[in-house]
Amino acid sequence: MSETVYLNGSLVPYDQALIPFEDRGMLFADGIYEVVRAYGGRLFELDAHMERLVASAAEIRLPPPPVQEIRRAVAEVLRLRGLPDASVYIQFTRGFTGPRSHALPQNPTPTLFVAARPVPRPDPTHFRDGATAITVSDRRWHMCHVKSVGLLLNTLAKQEALDAGTQEAVFVRDGVVTEGSATNVFAVFGGAVYTHPEGPHILSGITRQVLVELCRSQGIPLRQEPFLVQRLYAADEVFVSGTNSEVLPIRLVDGHAVGAGGVGPVTRRLQEVFARRVCS
Ligand code: PDD
Repeated sequence: MSETVYLNGSLVPYDQALIPFEDRGMLFADGIYEVVRAYGGRLFELDAHMERLVASAAEIRLPPPPVQEIRRAVAEVLRLRGLPDASVYIQFTRGFTGPRSHALPQNPTPTLFVAARPVPRPDPTHFRDGATAITVSDRRWHMCHVKSVGLLLNTLAKQEALDAGTQEAVFVRDGVVTEGSATNVFAVFGGAVYTHPEGPHILSGITRQVLVELCRSQGIPLRQEPFLVQRLYAADEVFVSGTNSEVLPIRLVDGHAVGAGGVGPVTRRLQEVFARRVCS
């Protein structure tokens, strides 16, 4: 039996969720998306994800996403899949308006797709002992704050990391660490947590935002400042964050052992408070 997904107002079996080939999402990556976690049947930070979806749409002149419809669709696919712990994928594109043409259609009919999937969780040993990463040149566009479906360079970076026997690729732009292929990047120097500031060169992660709040509430100094890749190698601790990755320690970057090589105390504490936060 194929899973039930939501497509343009209907709940349908996955193999019947069909759209025209020339959907603008397909032709031009003309669309945006969100990934939302459910923990024990409860959606984590759904409001923040909806706000970011609306903001992404505005940036690329998409019609405003139908937030109430999306909320209902998310609840329905989760219920029908019966997955208490799930990763919900939401995609909203400018849809199909006829044969390929660069100009934006006057009256687009967007395509909305929602599916709930088992969580693609990293290996548990990576949470416990740390994962590994390489750095890659950040050749992406200057609108990384938009959660665009145009992820080709992210997928190539991820594959480069996997080919190197590591788990994540860390983008470096003009010597500065920006973010991971599907994560935000943090480094700890002398007890203070550093992460790249919001702006066009990173996605403002919802997990990142939660960690910023948790650092504040835990009294952990946090600086949203750019730092160079050489400093990453010399950091006491490194971790990445994301909806599916949560708080994932990094123990090796480009073959350089991070700090003492294990998972540091700040990362461990943030993992613990984050785990409590998702259950609260
Ligand atoms: N990616 N940076 C990039 C480039 C990302 O793709 C993601 C998330 C993040 C972290 O954002 P958040 O904490 O809101 O998940 C940062 C999702 C999970 C994905 O593409 O599957």
